[in-house]
Amino acid sequence: MIKSRHRKRQIRANGENGRYAHVTGWGVEVPERVLTNHDLEQMVDTSDEWIRERTGISERRIADDRDTAVTLGTRAARKALKHADILPDDLDLIIVATMSPVYLCPSTACLIQDQLGATRAGAFDLLAACSGFIYALSTAAGQIKSGMARTVLVIGTETLSRITDWSDRGTCILFADGAAAFVLQESDTPGGVREVVLHSDGSGGELLYVHSGARPTWNGAEAPASLINMNGRGVFRFAARVMSSATEEVVQQAGLTLNDIDVIVPHQANMRIIDAAMRSLKISSDRVVANIERYGNTSAASIPIAIVEAVENGQIKPNDRIVLVGFGGGLTWAAALLEWEVTPTPASYGRDVLREGLYILARVRSLINRMLRLLEALFFRAPSDRQPRQRAGTPAKPPQQDE
Ligand code: UT7
Repeated sequence: MIKSRHRKRQIRANGENGRYAHVTGWGVEVPERVLTNHDLEQMVDTSDEWIRERTGISERRIADDRDTAVTLGTRAARKALKHADILPDDLDLIIVATMSPVYLCPSTACLIQDQLGATRAGAFDLLAACSGFIYALSTAAGQIKSGMARTVLVIGTETLSRITDWSDRGTCILFADGAAAFVLQESDTPGGVREVVLHSDGSGGELLYVHSGARPTWNGAEAPASLINMNGRGVFRFAARVMSSATEEVVQQAGLTLNDIDVIVPHQANMRIIDAAMRSLKISSDRVVANIERYGNTSAASIPIAIVEAVENGQIKPNDRIVLVGFGGGLTWAAALLEWEVTPTPASYGRDVLREGLYILARVRSLINRMLRLLEALFFRAPSDRQPRQRAGTPAKPPQQDE
């Protein structure tokens, strides 16, 4: 039983019973297709100069017709499993942060679980817009520190191009597609995900929203179904405020100062927001990860994509203390403090082959399960099934294997 704020902090920092949640593997998957600012000039009334000056974005990646949040997320996840050198069956839990799922139900996490063949894992989606990855990381670390899970896969995956209004120059210049996945594992070595702060303010929900099929609309106004609606200036003002406050809060919670932090990884939404926040924190640009110029805003995938790039180009090094900080629709904002103590797992050819074999087996297993369900429906009908039923609504396409 938690008796005090102090004790709560101790559990967050040290883990209950000496359990710590370390990042042991990661993977990124971005679509090949590049959409430049010059391409956008042909689509809406904008210019390369305006977009670069006001956002810092030059180009972004857009998924082709076959890709979805599931396919991108699955490929990122496979890379992360390979990097951590674990098998799909090692996973206890899969958490997906996304605001562009193919379906509200089934979750993107369940469809990825099926693609991976992670037969032991629970799976669910989490929606906290662009703060989603930090929310998911926090949930995963909490599961591990409490002893409820040992190995958790966290994925941020988005195909925002599918929910972008391509005639709205205020949003279509910002959003993009991509995915990244982290494997978190229990360890008795101190470090890993040390501190997290999560915040929300639903009173600002109308600043950035996407409709589900279940209406009503904000303020009774009719809006295009399932497309991103955003009050850019409103989100900008909110973001500039909370990025610095959340960074300071998470650092203080860890009993550290900003000088103890090696690298900050902010949500890649607008270079002006990042610059303003870092200026107010007096953090020089060499300590800030920024790749928005090449990827635009990939929402829940933006922070993990930026981390992986920074690890690969040496900006984040083993034993670095890093702060992740994000904000987004909801409104939500969050920050996490990680100690990046990953020692590379030596690549094992045999395990690679085994993993690939298991992915093929997963597809076969999934197909067999579907067929068995069909047979079950044919031969083992419940008495009530024999009566023709009236069905409400339009029948929708059932989830496909590749979605
Ligand atoms: O992950 C969280 C997601 N959202 C965000 O982070 C969004 C945060 N907000 C922003 O990034 C910025 O507010 C935007 C990039 C969306 C807009 O930049 P801004 O500097 O806030 O521009 P503004 O909305 O104040 O508009 C300034 C002018 C307007 O023209 P007038 O009224 O001054 O004549 C706009 O119509 O710029 C115009 N404008 C554009 N012009 C050329 C707006 N979008 C464009 C455009 N190209 N794409």
